[in-house]
Amino acid sequence: MPRVLTFFAILVPVVAVFLVCRSFDVAAHLQLSWPLALHPDSPVDDAQFHVDVPSAGVESDSGVLGHGIVVAEIGDDAAKHQFRRRVVAVGDLHGDLPNAHKVLQMAGVVDETGQWSGGVDFFVQTGDIIDRGDDTIKLYDWIDQLRGEAKAKGGVVLSHLGNHEWMNVIAQERQKMLMTGRIGKTWAGNYTTTSRLPLHPSLGPPNTDYDPSLLSSLSHAAVSFVHGGLAPNYPDLTPFPSRINNLGHTLLRKLQHRNPPPAPHPPNPYPGLPHDATPAEHRLYGTDGPLWYRGWALDSEAKACKAVDDVLQRTGTRRMIMGHTPDFEV
Ligand SMILES: *[C@@H]1O[C@H](CO)[C@@H](O)[C@H](O)[C@H]1NC(C)=O
Repeated sequence: MPRVLTFFAILVPVVAVFLVCRSFDVAAHLQLSWPLALHPDSPVDDAQFHVDVPSAGVESDSGVLGHGIVVAEIGDDAAKHQFRRRVVAVGDLHGDLPNAHKVLQMAGVVDETGQWSGGVDFFVQTGDIIDRGDDTIKLYDWIDQLRGEAKAKGGVVLSHLGNHEWMNVIAQERQKMLMTGRIGKTWAGNYTTTSRLPLHPSLGPPNTDYDPSLLSSLSHAAVSFVHGGLAPNYPDLTPFPSRINNLGHTLLRKLQHRNPPPAPHPPNPYPGLPHDATPAEHRLYGTDGPLWYRGWALDSEAKACKAVDDVLQRTGTRRMIMGHTPDFEV
């Protein structure tokens, strides 16, 4: 597999909604689409929030210039109660360890030895670590290493299952490792299908459900991450993110504990979801489900922009970040 293609696969797919409604240049100086007002009880008076998304270009060995890391600085510059969140999200790594190293180092997530640098608060990987390149297992192990190092330094690694992780666990391609082995265990324990990352300290830890009954104007100061996309017509969006993540959890459990396990595919026929998968679990893995949806990247700008505020409203977020669909025009 030529590195150059993998490199694009890593770098290109990440930015989606940042780019759907705004050009990348504009995204570099992103204004919130409506002012981030503050809850009356919030200790931060007169705070100005800003989301800074510098465009990230990288030169690889092969001379390809790519974009696609989301680096968001969310801060409150009021001197009184200063806080800052540095969030780096990276998409489809697809078995390419050398370029993953480069990208994470460039984004300030790791130092030159590949260890957690302490320079960011959150590192988010939106799924599809597996397939295409040769370094899949090394990548999972490295991300777990970073998860431990981050935790020791007050940082957080958020990991997501992409459609390729699911395809492998459905087809039992690498059987033991992804079922009862350490990769399967870390998927079950450390990976989710989506996440909601509250950005203001008062809003709770990552994956705090959005509570629509909280009439705080800060309540949407959060970002969502998912591999494919949160489609406007997907019926299991809420409560967000626990509804989707509970479905992911039960489906993964059923897949990892099939008894007897289906014969590996190929050469045997594709086994599909387990016979006891519920309709909601089928929707989770459906074309409009969070793992496969491509509408935010492929629909017309008019269509996507018309639908986006409704999804943000229901999920209690201001930005959606996803991988999955390459955009070679970025
Ligand atoms: C989750 O990640 C941590 C930190 O890397 C690791 O020590 C732990 O074993 C993982 N959990 C599971 C269930 O594998």
